[in-house]
Amino acid sequence: MISCVGSTKAISEISSDVKVLFLAEDSVLSDALKATLTECFGEYEVLLKAHKFTGKKGDCATLSTVCSGKAWHVLFRGLGKKNAQGLLNFETFRQALGCAVKAAKRLGAEAVALDVPAAEQFGMKSADVAQQATVIAHMATYVFDDFKDIRKPKTPWAAQIMLCGVTDVAAVAEGEMIAGAVNRIRRYADTPANIATPTYMAEEAKKIADEGGLTYTCFGKERALELGMGGLLAVGAGSAQPFKFVTLEYKKPGATKTIALVGKGITFDTGGVSLKPANAMTGMKYDKSGASAVLGAMQVIAKLKPNVNVVGLAPFTENMPDGAASRQDDIITHMNGVTAEIENTDAEGRLILADALAYAEQFFKPDIMIDIATLTGACMHALGTFYAGMMTDDDALAQELYDIGCFVGDKVWRLPFDEVYDDGIKSETADINNSGKRNYYAGPMMGGVYLRKFVKNARWAHLDIAGVADGVPGVSYLGNGATGTGVRLFVEFIKRNAA
Ligand code: BES
Ligand code: ZN
Ligand code: MN
Repeated sequence: MISCVGSTKAISEISSDVKVLFLAEDSVLSDALKATLTECFGEYEVLLKAHKFTGKKGDCATLSTVCSGKAWHVLFRGLGKKNAQGLLNFETFRQALGCAVKAAKRLGAEAVALDVPAAEQFGMKSADVAQQATVIAHMATYVFDDFKDIRKPKTPWAAQIMLCGVTDVAAVAEGEMIAGAVNRIRRYADTPANIATPTYMAEEAKKIADEGGLTYTCFGKERALELGMGGLLAVGAGSAQPFKFVTLEYKKPGATKTIALVGKGITFDTGGVSLKPANAMTGMKYDKSGASAVLGAMQVIAKLKPNVNVVGLAPFTENMPDGAASRQDDIITHMNGVTAEIENTDAEGRLILADALAYAEQFFKPDIMIDIATLTGACMHALGTFYAGMMTDDDALAQELYDIGCFVGDKVWRLPFDEVYDDGIKSETADINNSGKRNYYAGPMMGGVYLRKFVKNARWAHLDIAGVADGVPGVSYLGNGATGTGVRLFVEFIKRNAA
């Protein structure tokens, strides 16, 4: 575990075994810092040149020395060039920071002094830079090694990260809170389905509720039958693991607005009887990433106590192909009375989300509803690993989510959502079909328009995170597994929507 603390001291005054300096292509060091570097490294500029360090994006150089009998290191990281508006790119800083924190970890540093660049250089507020730097530092340290070398005691890296020039204690504390939730739910997503069953996930949700004073409810088959949740029942039918529909509720006395967050919680997606080929099935433990993000957001909201009501809904089930499983051609009835033909049991996410959206509207009457789901492989192919797909009829909501996504580094890109797509989910035998007609292509939108049938009153957006939930290459603070996508986006969205 690391902990971040703000420090009003200049980096040259702090004693630490690792110092991190971020330099843009044309930036100059303070005289005090130059003096310290000269004292310890002599002609450090010659050394930097030898490392070909010029401050370019991706540049890094480590200078190590012994000073007063102690080894210490200075990590230089490039921040790139200013853009046409004279601003530096904040994502380049996130990447540089993530890379530096991982390097400090490899060096086994106990105290790391980070020279946080001035916020104005990014066109940001210093509190926001402090909060986000804290989040990224923590995200960079995440590893999923719970099941490695379990017979040996583990000593996780423990270090104090001093954020030089940061005075806003509350911003750092908020960053620690958000990062704690992000890394916690990354662990949920990374945990395989033999351990992270629907029952396990419901128990974790209960822990989050108990820790934060949220109202927790959970029901299974019996109540789903009463409610007529044909989608959830159809998907859950093929699994030996009982499904669990979880809600976490944050209520603020006096608040007039309610926001619902709905996440897809497929603990493993085999495809069902429309079985996935083996190579496409690997990694399907990540099919609960949407619901995990909802749990993470609720954990932060419980602590932030914003002036808005928030409810998180997370249906957890496996999609398995046993004798009781749904078949192709089956017709189900969702809880709002809409019937659907199951053309493909592998389009299971929309089946459980449809009931969850209808449930959210009936029981919580949200003003705004956002669902988040690893819904379609097609979305991953369309947008790749850096942007989630967003579908909504609400232009203002689209703009808001886009802006927040860029601001926090959890980005969404709007996809078209015209009514022309609706014909793609017509069915000969039922109201709609779950897979979308082949000749309509447009996989993400086939999922989106299916879900649209289940939202009547709320302002609503659908986020398809299939491409961004795990396995994002080339981002220093993410690593190979779960990314925790959605938590940072939701938390900022809720903060801005608190009256
Ligand atoms: N969980 C998958 C989507 C997915 C695929 C996520 C690859 C991440 C990586 C989803 O349940 C699914 O199987 N979708 C189908 C829909 C199709 C049958 C209409 C798909 O994308 O092929
Ligand atoms: Zn799925
Ligand atoms: Mn599927």
